Amino acid sequence: MRITVVNDYATLSATAAGLVAGWVWAKPDAVLGLPTGSTPEGMYRALVSLGLRFSSVRTFNLDEYVGIPADHPQSYAAFMRKHLFDWVDIRPENVHIPNGMSADLEAECARYDEAIQRAGGIDLTILGLGPNGHIGFNEPGAPWDGRTRPVELTEITRQANARYFRNRQEIPRMALTMGIGTILESRRILVLASGADKAGIVQQFLKGPATPDLPATALRSHPDVTVMLDRKAAQQTALSGVI
Ligand code: F6R
Repeated sequence: MRITVVNDYATLSATAAGLVAGWVWAKPDAVLGLPTGSTPEGMYRALVSLGLRFSSVRTFNLDEYVGIPADHPQSYAAFMRKHLFDWVDIRPENVHIPNGMSADLEAECARYDEAIQRAGGIDLTILGLGPNGHIGFNEPGAPWDGRTRPVELTEITRQANARYFRNRQEIPRMALTMGIGTILESRRILVLASGADKAGIVQQFLKGPATPDLPATALRSHPDVTVMLDRKAAQQTALSGVI
């Protein structure tokens, strides 16, 4: 794993965007695995300002809530339109987000994994880090060979997402997520974490034992992972040899 520590969130966003842009310039028809959440917002803004061409890029989002339609403001589909897709020249047919409104969620997940295979697999997956170490919505205990599937969200994840909803009842209880197995098949992985709130989980992710109790530790077995942190997220982790 390559670990990069930068000064602050703005630098993290610009540096991550620079990396992604470099990879897309090198492979204009790259297949990207994309996260939502507050961490990547700045990176998406920076990608938009770079004027990166997305005309041949294909994207697969990591996850989507179950029971929230794509036109709901808190759907991940709406998040992606607001922060990236409405601002770049991506073709609608090249955007893939699991359909959490499907009448057959298992079939939807199988279809999603097949679509990833048909696209030739994912070149680069970008991940945020959940407060409990989740990646996508693979909560503690998720199998490391898991495929895209419906999952229940833990209380800690629902709490972390509460800020987006008007009341507790509205916070979704289920989501569709790429599995850890699906994520590990990505040729490259970029993990982003920012802020003091993430310092404890970053420390466990990088220095604690590799265990299904902390899903992100599965990434340690992957040959091409870059972890990018700002100083606050790295503050509890003794790191050497970082930029
Ligand atoms: C979102 C996702 C989640 C988030 C994680 C961190 O698509 O897959 O794993 O990356 O919950 O969220 P933020 O960035 O809001 O702290």
